[in-house]
Amino acid sequence: MKSRIKSISLIFLLPLFVFSQKNTLPYQNKLLPIDVRVKDLVGRMTLEEKAGQLNLLNGGEPTGPGIDYSNKDLQLEIIKKGRVGAFLNISGTANIKLYQEAAIKKSRLGIPLIFGMDVIHGYRTIFPIPLAEACSWDLNLIEKNAAIAAKEASAAGINWTFAPMADISNDPRWGRVMEGAGEDPFLCGLVTAARVRGFQGKLTSNNVLACIKHYGGYGAVEGGREYNYTDFSRIALWNKHLPSYKKGIEAGAATIMNGFNLFENVPVTANKYLLQDVLKSRWKFKGFIVSDWTSMYEMIPHGFAKDSLEAAVLSLNAGSMMDMASDVVINNISTIAKNRLVDMGKIDAAVSAVLTQKFKLGLFDNPYAYCDSVREKTLVFTDENRIAARQAAEKSVVLLKNSQQVLPMLNTNARIALVGYLAKSKKDMFDFWTFRGNYHEAVSIFEGVKNTFSNVEYMDGYDTSVTANNILINEAVNKSKNADYIIVTIGWPGYLSGEDRSFANIHIPQSQLELLKELKKNGKPIIVLVNSGRPLVLTEILPYCDAILQCWILGSETGNAIGNILKGEVNPSAKTVMSFPYHEGQIPVYYNRYTTSRPGINLQGGEWQSRYRDFPNEALFPFGYGLSYTSYQYQNLQLSDTIVSAKKPLTASITVTNTGNYDGEEIVQLYIHDFYSTIVRPYKELKAYQKIFIKKGETKVVKFNISAADLCFYDQDGKPVLENGKMEVMIGKNAQDVLKQQFKYIQ
Ligand code: NOJ
Repeated sequence: MKSRIKSISLIFLLPLFVFSQKNTLPYQNKLLPIDVRVKDLVGRMTLEEKAGQLNLLNGGEPTGPGIDYSNKDLQLEIIKKGRVGAFLNISGTANIKLYQEAAIKKSRLGIPLIFGMDVIHGYRTIFPIPLAEACSWDLNLIEKNAAIAAKEASAAGINWTFAPMADISNDPRWGRVMEGAGEDPFLCGLVTAARVRGFQGKLTSNNVLACIKHYGGYGAVEGGREYNYTDFSRIALWNKHLPSYKKGIEAGAATIMNGFNLFENVPVTANKYLLQDVLKSRWKFKGFIVSDWTSMYEMIPHGFAKDSLEAAVLSLNAGSMMDMASDVVINNISTIAKNRLVDMGKIDAAVSAVLTQKFKLGLFDNPYAYCDSVREKTLVFTDENRIAARQAAEKSVVLLKNSQQVLPMLNTNARIALVGYLAKSKKDMFDFWTFRGNYHEAVSIFEGVKNTFSNVEYMDGYDTSVTANNILINEAVNKSKNADYIIVTIGWPGYLSGEDRSFANIHIPQSQLELLKELKKNGKPIIVLVNSGRPLVLTEILPYCDAILQCWILGSETGNAIGNILKGEVNPSAKTVMSFPYHEGQIPVYYNRYTTSRPGINLQGGEWQSRYRDFPNEALFPFGYGLSYTSYQYQNLQLSDTIVSAKKPLTASITVTNTGNYDGEEIVQLYIHDFYSTIVRPYKELKAYQKIFIKKGETKVVKFNISAADLCFYDQDGKPVLENGKMEVMIGKNAQDVLKQQFKYIQ
């Protein structure tokens, strides 16, 4: 009753407040609710101004092809006319203030602009690439680092990032795998949600809007070729591709970006099923949907729209809202309106969705909150942020091999030969998506190793060419003869990972393989550090290395993190979230593949089976794989019951003992398998995991609850289905090495 009186009095008082804001139009009145302000503003807008709010233009260095709008005078002119609602690739408070002032003071309605950028893994402090960071399986760390990236970017005027990428990555030929969280829908969903929470926080001026991309299923580009088409079923859509985007939306993501791909042969940009039926009607997504770079226009070369008018109409009618860089909406809006080609209610709804986010960001009430030059100087690349980047790097490095416990190298006076020009190259500790990071500020592997060990000699070993350089090889071989350890940094230059970087050949270059072969002849322990934005084919190098650390691309603090790992101050705990293929011919190779009618298990799997004659079906290093300096023994998998039902969840427990010589963190993984159902299911699906700290010699019992919801699959229409029958729970250290127990689900 009390609260009713309160709300009644508020209703009476509101007009007074409103009235007291003299000369203030309702949309300018911060005392009014956002939806009221939005409605008022939309009611005052011309058609062109509405189209302007749906227009996102590139204002800086291009991240795609198309019309050049980088001329400042032209940009300011467009702003004044209200023909643009947001820019990408502009940053710096001075710059942004100039644009924002033009929008606020010179455009008719003073609608503020949004400034977007691909802040993919840090702004000035560069964190490990997202794929690497996901290998930590540490959601708190991931969320915290996204928040740091947001803080730095927002201090430089950015209020929208085109991240996180929630696409499922099965194909390491695709350069974008570096941007995501790997091959598993469950883990990818958790990581996506953590990143959204980190970026957006409470949407203060320390935060940025997140943008989940590239909806839906862009990760399935055929052949791993960027900008290619996709072709998958509704079952795959619902069970494999959609869950991670959904998790991001549930975490409150403000925006979604369309992929360039097709679903059922209709570009996502114009796909009613994905945009209208799923995103808006079923998931009740309230934010705004932005196209990918010129993806509206690109429906013409794709053979779907016959001209730019049709491209705009098809996009808007399907539910796309903001046009990134193709101009098709702004250029066609009057024809669209005149001929009623799109329902004007739809356009108003799209404009309202964009304006709502601008209100939520506080831009109407404090348009220069993101233009504080003091914050810009003091909040970026701080010691605190660098520590976070180092810790993230330490938790991202995956130990793939460690014969005879060659690592860690406890003796910091050991004679070390450090080979490989990548070790000195700071530039290659960064990738394509590090716009405002300054690689000169990064700590190279050489610096990190020198800071950690007292006796280090460096040799190039190879150069940028693919063919072996015998002079460099001979020098490395001769100079490393007396070393106690040879550390070789191999892999790919950083700029080869990211957008537009698809490769059919993902081997280690011949020059590096030859180097390893020759170095091996010295008979010294060889420790290999692999720098790459994707799982490369490592099969050929395996015999020539005693230890392999998959370092991915680690960013600003690369060297310090690697130094700490090499000397054992940090015990590796990361586990790969993407399978490493034996050979490109196996791709796609991923752990959660469907069962087959002739399941050739391995090379010895018998005749007439589904298998390769030359390579195993499995990956060289499977999903969830990663070693530690210590060892863990898994025993005694027990289930609380043999039956699970909707009312009665099951508890699975397992005993994990640290049997080695170091304390460590272990990622204990739980998978399930449904033996028979009305659709064929994967061999295994990750359903839960725990990252636990275990002291050496200690044993811990790890418990998981399995509920009926964990056992569901989605049918073609996206409805969760659960059928009675025999199932299996598997718990282990990676997707291949598991203990198993069967149970039944009975409704
Ligand atoms: C195209 C990419 O596919 C997308 O991920 C990115 O955010 C935009 N360009 C903007 O740079």
